[in-house]
Amino acid sequence: MAKLAGCLRAGLRLAVLAGVAALMAAPSSEAVAGVDLPKLERGKGEKCVEDTQFMRRNHMDLLKHQRDETMRKGIRTTRHSLKRCVECHASEKTGSVAASKEDFCAACHSYASVKLDCWDCHATRPGKKSAASPHVPSQVNGGGQ
Ligand code: HEC
Ligand code: HEC
Ligand code: HEC
Repeated sequence: MAKLAGCLRAGLRLAVLAGVAALMAAPSSEAVAGVDLPKLERGKGEKCVEDTQFMRRNHMDLLKHQRDETMRKGIRTTRHSLKRCVECHASEKTGSVAASKEDFCAACHSYASVKLDCWDCHATRPGKKSAASPHVPSQVNGGGQ
């Protein structure tokens, strides 16, 4: 770290950028938390909807409502549906992506202090009818972050 600080001061921005890239490329737990995150449960199937590295860094952009206009028209289709994330990433134990702190979506988020309001409307469990309808009260899914 002292060495990195030295580079910084020397203005070697490339070295710093490389360092950051290396950090981002590290296994997810380290990349996000720096220290002992619960081990993430592996998703179902062969692979994610996009490259794993890409997903670690950019899943929020794929999912956010506000990006719909720009991104849907490009690489986005139902392929990045939140419902599908839940189908593949629900925990074996809790059946949910965000019922316990170890569950897939909650694991990194609770550590990084990211709070999602998505689960107010969207189901955290596969097979459950999403509450994402203006006509359904928002507390259907219970708990989650
Ligand atoms: C106030 C309720 C509400 C909240 C909060 C909410 N959504 Fe939605 N969302 C909807 C509704 C309604 C739809 C359209 C119906 C549908 O497709 O299920 C939708 C659709 C979507 C879709 C497209 C359909 C799908 O299953 O992929 C995505 C992706 C999505 N939301 C992501 C998110 C994310 C990520 C968050 C949190 C950052 C979030 N939403 C928070 C109500 C909400
Ligand atoms: C078809 C099943 C499937 C779907 C759908 C899916 N994933 Fe994945 N996902 C996986 C698998 C399998 C892995 C592990 C891949 C690996 O180890 O290289 C993974 C990995 C990830 C990772 C990296 C986890 C880590 O260890 O760092 C993130 C983040 C992620 N997925 C988020 C999402 C999001 C968000 C969605 C919805 C937009 C989604 N996934 C949809 C199967 C899926
Ligand atoms: C590998 C760790 C990791 C996993 C697994 C993960 N996330 Fe995230 N997620 C993050 C981090 C870190 C941020 C905050 C990024 C930022 O602030 O720029 C974030 C942010 C988000 C945001 C944007 C929140 C906001 O209000 O800006 C959404 C939406 C999101 N994640 C959805 C999901 C969903 C859905 C899953 C499960 C399918 C999931 N994430 C799994 C690490 C993860």
